[in-house]
Amino acid sequence: MRPLLTVVAAAVLLLLIPLAAGQGFRGFSYLLDCGAAASSTDTRGLRWDPDGPYVSAGSARTLSVQGLLDPTLASLRGFPYRPAVKFCYALPVDPNRRYLLRPTFFYGSSSPPPPVFDLIVDGTFWTAVDTADDILAGSASHYEAVFQARGRNLTFCLGVNSNYTTSGPFINALQVIQLHDSVYNATDFGSSAMGLIARTKFGSTGDVERYPDDSFDRYWQPFPDNKHAVSSTHNVTSADFWNLPPPDVFNTALVAEQNAPLVLQWPPISLQNDSYYVALYFADTLADSSRTFDVNINDYQFYKDLTATSAGLSVFATQWILSGLTRIILTPTSVLPPLINAGEVFGLFPIGRLTITRDALAMESMKRSLQNIPDDWIGDPCMPHGYAWTGVTCLEGKNIRVISLNFSSMGISGSLSPDIGNLTALTDIFLANNSLSGSIPDLTKLGKLQRLHLNDNKLNGTIPQTLGTIQPLRELFLQNNELGGAVPLNLLNKAGLTRKFCPGNQFSQPPC
Ligand SMILES: *[C@@H]1O[C@H](CO)[C@@H](O)[C@H](O)[C@H]1NC(C)=O
Ligand SMILES: *[C@@H]1O[C@H](CO)[C@@H](O)[C@H](O)[C@H]1NC(C)=O
Ligand SMILES: *[C@@H]1O[C@H](CO)[C@@H](O)[C@H](O)[C@H]1NC(C)=O
Ligand SMILES: *[C@@H]1O[C@H](CO)[C@@H](O)[C@H](O)[C@H]1NC(C)=O
Ligand SMILES: *[C@@H]1O[C@H](CO)[C@@H](O)[C@H](O)[C@H]1NC(C)=O
Ligand SMILES: *[C@@H]1O[C@H](CO)[C@@H](O)[C@H](O)[C@H]1NC(C)=O
Ligand SMILES: *[C@@H]1O[C@H](CO)[C@@H](O)[C@H](O)[C@H]1NC(C)=O
Ligand SMILES: *[C@@H]1O[C@H](CO)[C@@H](O)[C@H](O)[C@H]1NC(C)=O
Ligand SMILES: *[C@@H]1O[C@H](CO)[C@@H](O)[C@H](O)[C@H]1NC(C)=O
Repeated sequence: MRPLLTVVAAAVLLLLIPLAAGQGFRGFSYLLDCGAAASSTDTRGLRWDPDGPYVSAGSARTLSVQGLLDPTLASLRGFPYRPAVKFCYALPVDPNRRYLLRPTFFYGSSSPPPPVFDLIVDGTFWTAVDTADDILAGSASHYEAVFQARGRNLTFCLGVNSNYTTSGPFINALQVIQLHDSVYNATDFGSSAMGLIARTKFGSTGDVERYPDDSFDRYWQPFPDNKHAVSSTHNVTSADFWNLPPPDVFNTALVAEQNAPLVLQWPPISLQNDSYYVALYFADTLADSSRTFDVNINDYQFYKDLTATSAGLSVFATQWILSGLTRIILTPTSVLPPLINAGEVFGLFPIGRLTITRDALAMESMKRSLQNIPDDWIGDPCMPHGYAWTGVTCLEGKNIRVISLNFSSMGISGSLSPDIGNLTALTDIFLANNSLSGSIPDLTKLGKLQRLHLNDNKLNGTIPQTLGTIQPLRELFLQNNELGGAVPLNLLNKAGLTRKFCPGNQFSQPPC
């Protein structure tokens, strides 16, 4: 066992207070069966819908695996291998509400080895997905995190990372479930998101506790232990806890021997030295009874003289430092031995920065006026680092700005939105050899523009006179369009400008 950790951060401990409860999935919630052709209803009565309406990339594939217990595993959506590209789902949500995300991955076979790839939510790097161990054991891989939405659409993306494998990412199912505002509300979701490490129902040998017992379909995994397990008729109301645990997680427990502490090694994996969210749930298993004990995690006191009654209670810390293997130690301070019913541990990870809103809106507006655009132009145009949209280059300074557009020879049609003129950090625009039509918008505000290549398109109208006022402009390629009128004099005379106006245009005067 590794040496015990050092606690640095101050822990925030709070006792729970009653709250009004509710039933079922609330607000915007999605159960997507990726790659499926039609909706289906599972044995729990949950309806799963095809993912098609929410994603524009990838293709559906059906697995030829027989006897799957979970029918949503039978199909998947596979994405191409394009390094540094993120493929995103966009799901309309309530801005500023919090969502539980649970993607499921099941590659079907371990040969060839399943791809390894990144998960990204609203521009924030979440984790790398590696399903190799699970698939060898014949099981699916679930990941779970809680994020606060950052806009009207939540984007969930799979990122192709050439550091791992050379095949494209895949996904079988995606759940996005809106949480009640009080659930995990002590976490500052403006700066962090939570990634699940363990959610455990102690003393249980039964099935995973989940929907409909848990109204957000959180999975409470059994944790059998013959020596200490007890069961009880619980007397707990979910609504008495901010985190709304399902009442049935209180019907089993692990109990210490008389006059001895209860020592648990939990969560069952070694953790890297970091801050964690830890919540522990307790309820006396006897009617009208209570017991008092101290809760220590490794060498540090988590809670002193905690009194668990049959009504139940929970204690939690939002930033508790853990490292290596973790021991939970419950030491009695009353006659009845201590017990524990359930627990949750989440890792915390920082919310990533986003492209400044002005640039992101301008890119969305450009996208709307173009057709046949790349299938990865969804999600943040620049972030996370290394995952900008195809053809977009960004500068990650004090603000994150779009500095270059290179959409040359991409087969794009449609027109140029005037909002391209809002991308004021642009130095280069390369749109040559597409099928762009309509006129050249006003680019006066692009005070840093050095190179503008619009040649080999179907642009018409006249050349805006304001182009000549962009001081740094040194390359202007407009040949092979349907432009007309007179070429502005300030462009013909501009010093240091390499210009190509001909052939292909019908200007009323020279140069053509
Ligand atoms: C964990 O990290 C903290 C600060 O980052 C450090 O002070 C402490 O020594 C580390 N503990 C272990 C066990 O590595
Ligand atoms: C939000 O997502 C929906 C469905 O994926 C899409 O139709 C819509 O255009 C998106 N809205 C924005 C602002 O991106
Ligand atoms: C790949 O690994 C290198 C070296 O560790 C790192 O600098 C780079 O950011 C990684 N690329 C991605 C896309 O994660
Ligand atoms: C969390 O929710 C509870 C119940 O609504 C409320 O009493 C409490 O103040 C909230 N805490 C925070 C930090 O928002
Ligand atoms: C459940 O709670 C009620 C009221 O708090 C109490 O009267 C009853 O004895 C309790 N039952 C059990 C099994 O603890
Ligand atoms: C572009 O900038 C103008 C002026 O600042 C603003 O009115 C317009 O809404 C912006 N366009 C977008 C798409 O944000
Ligand atoms: C634009 O991108 C294409 C494809 O990545 C590349 O071949 C070309 O050199 C780029 N154009 C410029 C002007 O950088
Ligand atoms: C123009 O784009 C097409 C694809 O749209 C490509 O096949 C062709 O080679 C490009 N021409 C030049 C000169 O780059
Ligand atoms: C430019 O082309 C568009 C269609 O692509 C057309 O509607 C418009 O009238 C044309 N403008 C001029 C000045 O020819």
